[in-house]
Amino acid sequence: MNDKITKPAIPKPPRPDDICPRPDKPVSHTTQPMAPAIYPTSVWMCNDTQQADQLLSRDLEGYVYQRDGHPNADAFAEKVAELHAAERVAVTSSGMAAMSLAVLSQLMPGDHVVVSNQLYGRSLLLLTQELNRLGITSTRVDTCDLTATRTAMTSVTKLVVVETIGNPCLQVADIGSLAEIAHERNAHLLVDNTFATPVLCRPLELGADLVLESVSKMMNGHSDVMLGALCGRACEWERVPLVLSAWGLASSPFDAWLAVRGLATMHLRVDRACETAGKVAEFLAQASAVEHVDYPGLRDHPQHALATSQFGGRYGSIVTFRIAGGRKAADAFIAATDQIPFCPSLGEASTTLSHPESTSHRGLLPEERAALGISGGTIRLSIGLESSDFVLGVLQDKLTGI
Ligand SMILES: Cc1ncc(COP(=O)(O)O)c(C=O)c1O
Repeated sequence: MNDKITKPAIPKPPRPDDICPRPDKPVSHTTQPMAPAIYPTSVWMCNDTQQADQLLSRDLEGYVYQRDGHPNADAFAEKVAELHAAERVAVTSSGMAAMSLAVLSQLMPGDHVVVSNQLYGRSLLLLTQELNRLGITSTRVDTCDLTATRTAMTSVTKLVVVETIGNPCLQVADIGSLAEIAHERNAHLLVDNTFATPVLCRPLELGADLVLESVSKMMNGHSDVMLGALCGRACEWERVPLVLSAWGLASSPFDAWLAVRGLATMHLRVDRACETAGKVAEFLAQASAVEHVDYPGLRDHPQHALATSQFGGRYGSIVTFRIAGGRKAADAFIAATDQIPFCPSLGEASTTLSHPESTSHRGLLPEERAALGISGGTIRLSIGLESSDFVLGVLQDKLTGI
């Protein structure tokens, strides 16, 4: 080593390139802001090695690295925990990340899952093909058929996965009975509650062990967030923080902050959309251009009575119908209905429509779609916040023109 090297002096006055990167001092307020702060910081400063050690081993509560946790996720998780009466909530980068977190934290190679055949297309793919690559087998079953579900359970079944309201034909899961079937075999029931939201249903109170929400949909409700939440009990949570961090499933602070804002109006939005959806379903059931309507609020829906008792008189904001004339008629309707955007998602502020055959369920074989009741003429409406007069007026106008 050359001891002639002179120690560089810290420049005085400091140079701009030394001033600008300096971390900001925390701001202390005499009054409190009404809106919550956003903490986009990727990393937090530790006082010393002991503190870093305690934080990273979770002996001390606090933040170190955004991928492990951040205040905006915690603020959102706190509200969701109350909404779902959950002991634990993990906030993830999307609904699919919440599904990944559930299976990666609960399952091991050699395990088996029983999967409702009425799940969102990507969930089906994850739970069957992707899990299969990890040595986890699955059986798809119509979970509205409780006998078939019980028969599908094996000695190594660890998880039963259903949606509260199935996608896209809106079958309603009997959560209490499915929980019993799962528990008879020491398995857990995971419920994707995205179509219902906690306004209609709190599956943990009905016996479910884990609940998942795609917050990207109605819970946020403004088409500007990609976020998921997994809710459960402390006894199922041992591996969740590690899996969330190690598999990189964590949320962004900005999305979590927006989602807290979305939650403030969730009850009002869900109420309004459900009310209009009921009127839309009644209208479509009478329309001559429509062959069939799925909506749990209609008396002829196979689980209407269950929906009434489980959801307390509301039936959701999604209405699915089959237009007469198949794919050609569906294409013509979609092209003509420019006031209702064709947008393969749901739960937006405006009413939107989707076409399951060409979007959410495109990965299934034609015969698999047919078995689920999805044809080229199937259209899924996600009812928004416009007046019911507006939505009914557009549908009446466009359906008579087809
Ligand atoms: C019922 C349901 N669950 C889960 C998801 C996945 O959520 P995300 O898009 O936030 O990953 C979707 C997405 O469409 C969905 O419809």
